[in-house]
Amino acid sequence: MEKSVLQVERAAYQPKLPKALQGDVTVKEGAPTQSVADREEIKKLFPNTYGMPLVEFVPGKETGASRKMNVGVILSGGQAPGGHNVICGIFDELKKLDPSNRLYGFLMGPGGLVDHKYIEITEDLLKDYRNTGGFDMIGSGRTKLEKVDQFEKGLQIIHKLDISAVVIIGGDDSNTNAAVLAEYYKAKGYGVQVIGCPKTIDGDLKNDQIETSFGFDTATKTYSEVIGNIERDCNSARKYWHFIKLMGRSASHIALECALQTQPNICLISEEIQKNDLTLNQIVENIAKVVAKRAEQGNNFGVVLIPEGLIEFIPAIGRLISELNDLLAAHGADYKDLDKKAQRDYVLAHLSKENAETFSTLPEGVARQLSLDRDPHGNVQVSLIETEKLLSEMVGDLLAKWKKEGKYNGKFAAQHHFFGYEGRCAAPSNFDADYCYSLGTSAAQLIANGKTGYMAIVKNLTAGPENWKAGGVPITMMMNMEKRNGEMKPVIRKALVDLNDKPFKTFAAHRDEWAKETAYVYPGPIQYWGPASVCDRTTKTLELEH
Ligand code: FBP
Repeated sequence: MEKSVLQVERAAYQPKLPKALQGDVTVKEGAPTQSVADREEIKKLFPNTYGMPLVEFVPGKETGASRKMNVGVILSGGQAPGGHNVICGIFDELKKLDPSNRLYGFLMGPGGLVDHKYIEITEDLLKDYRNTGGFDMIGSGRTKLEKVDQFEKGLQIIHKLDISAVVIIGGDDSNTNAAVLAEYYKAKGYGVQVIGCPKTIDGDLKNDQIETSFGFDTATKTYSEVIGNIERDCNSARKYWHFIKLMGRSASHIALECALQTQPNICLISEEIQKNDLTLNQIVENIAKVVAKRAEQGNNFGVVLIPEGLIEFIPAIGRLISELNDLLAAHGADYKDLDKKAQRDYVLAHLSKENAETFSTLPEGVARQLSLDRDPHGNVQVSLIETEKLLSEMVGDLLAKWKKEGKYNGKFAAQHHFFGYEGRCAAPSNFDADYCYSLGTSAAQLIANGKTGYMAIVKNLTAGPENWKAGGVPITMMMNMEKRNGEMKPVIRKALVDLNDKPFKTFAAHRDEWAKETAYVYPGPIQYWGPASVCDRTTKTLELEH
């Protein structure tokens, strides 16, 4: 592998660990836990892994931890900066416990376990991946691990490699599957532990126990750098409105964080749009009003941030998607191979009157995306829907109408951007490099201490790595029942933007001023060396939440 100069220098970075994980580790257990909702149902579905206590690691004499173990690791779902460092943390801790311990990486996601595709992870391999972005060391995939025959096939390779535990590094869906797998192996008495790690740039895998998922920090800093650059360009040329769609499948955490860092003229927050029951036309009108107001001051330019998941949160479209999900689950096979027109007709004929009306008003490409494609977890593939173009075209049409009516006299020219994939594999910030390494170390300690059905956690994240608190949370504690693919399923509850919490309130307190003034902030690129105020800062979201 030919390395960049940055990669070479960065490989030497030694990630920081919390005090509790630097030497011998003692386990402190809390009281039994309960799931966040639907307790009876979750307990019934997870009789062997429900109610386990929270675990915290504290410095002290090791208490009966097992030292000998082989472990398998899986990267699951979308890439997030820092995944390689989780693997480094697991590897280093395993070797510290016993140098003959081995770590195997299953290739291309959960499918690697089922299909018996793996490599052994060695120091020689790892040295090229320490502190790097991406998941290319072993690859990732979205195969859903949920069927008994998959679990049994996985067990064959687990036995062959004498593996005692599997670590699944993934988002809410993948960790839900980790909990199901842990329960299954425990119920069968197979003696195989399963541990999860909280990954996703989307930032929606968070709750009382998980302060943030890894990757959010680096991805939002990467997007904010480029948004800042666009803002500066925009304020220099003063002739374009930039419509920027930002990744984040459901929740608007990424858009909100980037808005807090860069102070654009407009940032839509899907959760607020849902709460206020806004229609697409109302959203368009709100944007057009800001454009027209700025035009009155001679400012025919601006920046609009749009969360990727917006479309699903517009209530009428949300209702449509929910009916389409049921239709797809029950009759998808009947129409997925028809030609485009026949598909559209089939869908229209099977929808309720209200949803058919909404469906027929959507541009063809958007309607098709909603009625057909889902990822293996049943999610609409929102990153493929060009909301930024849809909105700017509708804003342009409305402004043209206002111009004819004499209500607007500016110039409107739009540029479109989608920032998504370019943030998912960026070289991890110091925060993500340290956080991920600590998560990996915690995961290895959970295994050594016989835990299964837990997610590795690291808390107190605004206090600096030395003071971080590491441990584990039973995955069942974060679960509730939700409808997926037409059926009620136990899943980890997704964290949406809380409109009553400080990050949103801080944004809401300033947005009118940012709409009117040109109050852009230019955060610049992630820095790895230099003053801690620049290199080690966390996100605004974390800062404001704690
Ligand atoms: P995860 O939830 O698996 O971390 O993935 C997040 C994400 O980056 C979303 O923001 C985005 O909508 C989706 O992945 C894109 O998926 P894909 O890589 O399959 O196109």
